[in-house]
Formats: sequence, C-alpha cells, structure tokens
Amino acid sequence: MRIIETIAEMQQAADNWRAHGERIGFVPTMGFLHKGHLDLMRTARRLSSQVVISIFVNPTQFAPHEDFDSYPRDMQRDLDFAREVGVDAVFTPNLHEMYPEGFQTYVTVTEVSKNLCGRSRPVFFRGVATVVSKLFHAVKPHLSVFGEKDFQQLVTIRRMVRDMNMDVEIIGHPIVREEDGLAMSSRNAYLRPEERPVALRLGRALALAQDLVSSGERQVDAILGKVSEFIAGDGAAKIDYAQICDPNTLEDIAHIGGPALLALAVWVGKTRLIDNRILQPSG
Ligand code: PAF
Repeated sequence: MRIIETIAEMQQAADNWRAHGERIGFVPTMGFLHKGHLDLMRTARRLSSQVVISIFVNPTQFAPHEDFDSYPRDMQRDLDFAREVGVDAVFTPNLHEMYPEGFQTYVTVTEVSKNLCGRSRPVFFRGVATVVSKLFHAVKPHLSVFGEKDFQQLVTIRRMVRDMNMDVEIIGHPIVREEDGLAMSSRNAYLRPEERPVALRLGRALALAQDLVSSGERQVDAILGKVSEFIAGDGAAKIDYAQICDPNTLEDIAHIGGPALLALAVWVGKTRLIDNRILQPSG
C-alpha cells in the first residue's frame, strides 16, 4: 500500500493508472476509521481496480468553536484498517499541502447546503465542497463513495459534481450501524458509557416515525412532535434539529406525500450526533 503525501505525487500516480486503463475508486475520510468507513472502502474495492482513500482532517469545515483540535486521530490504526481492506494508496496531505499560504478559493453549493446542518454549521458545507473538490483534482477518481449518514453532504457533493461537470460517479452507501443500532461515526468515540442509551434514541426515533407514517400519519408537525418528545422529552438530550424534508431539495415539507427525509441532529452531552432515514408512506 502506497502512502502519498503530496498532491503532485498523487496526481502522477492517478495519471499513470489512468494511462494503463485502471479504474480509480476513492473514499475521502478524516481518519479515525470505523467499520462504516471499511464498508465504503469495500464498495470502492468492488467497483474499481485501484482504491485510494484520503485521510485529512479538514480545517475549513470546522467553525472556530468546533472540535478540529480534539478531533480523534490515529494514523497507525487507520493504515492497518486500510491494508486489511486492500486499499492501494492512502493520500495523507498535511495542512500546508492542502491550504498553502494565500489560499482563497472556495466552492459554495448555495441551496441544498442551507437547511439542516447548514443552519447550525454555516461554514461546514463550503469547507466540505472545497476540500472534496481539491481531493478530486488530486486523486482523479472515476468514482467516489460517500456514506448516507451524512445525507446532506452526499446531496451537496452530487450537486457540486453535476453543476461543475466533474467527471466522477458519486456512489451513496447506506448507513452502517453498530449492533445496538447507533449509526457509526468517528465522534461516537466521545460518548461516555452512560450516554450510550440516550444516543440510541436517535435510531429508535427514526423507526418510531416510520411506524407513525405506516399507520397513516402524514402531518409533519405531528410526527416531529412525537420524535422530539421521544428523544429529548426527559431533558437527557438536546435537539439541534429534527426536520422532515424533500430528499432532493432538502427543503422542509409540511405533509408527507412521497418518500421524505427525516434528519436528526442531537446533542448527547458534548457529542453532536446525526442520523436520518427516508420515511416511506407506502411501506
Ligand atoms: O465525511 C467526511 O469525513 C468529511 O466531511 C469529508 C467528506 C472527508 C471531507 O472532509
């Protein structure tokens, strides 16, 4: 497995692979890999002949008060995981390589990034779109795999790729859950043992909402009222948002008439967790 630290070397490797007719699959990550990432990498492995992952904790997607400095990092463990899955190259640029002196160009996807996480994390999607765009220029992938847990991120990247004519196929991967139902996330490492049962309420609330819809409830306010009460009624968690949206535009809807995205962001102690599900009126 190659470990590549510079953009020039990454681009050269990509050009070489492309010249030999190889298909490059790419999984961008911020490291501290978990089983969810491994599934993304396995999907890339299945669909491509060369698999690249990036490990880069991207400062431009964190606001100053957020957890950039404390974000969990463990390069050795990440490299072991990548080897286990048969990754061909790990791209690990440093901060200066990605954002050299004088950097001033950003990618903004204006509409789909406004709602949901865009409200509470106003710089987040600009940072994500910018770094993913830069990573695509470095890795030159044919396809790139993103998890559906960050549903809004996936929609934003798809929009950017379409709008900017990027020649990359974006593949969404279903949410990977722990055995107890908690959606996998590097930030789960922050949870204290006593917070875990509270964290499990997110996944259960998504199931509760689907049950309500399956039994005929179509009013978004009624569903969100019950979901919020279930998650935070006793004050053990604090809801950042619980919203039901059109899964394409990510705009709020008032009434469920077709598949609808229920997206949650919840503070459990000092940990902000997100989760989501497409609510299906028919099933
Ligand atoms: O989902 C993530 O881990 C990050 O947002 C990404 C896509 C690697 C960009 O930094």
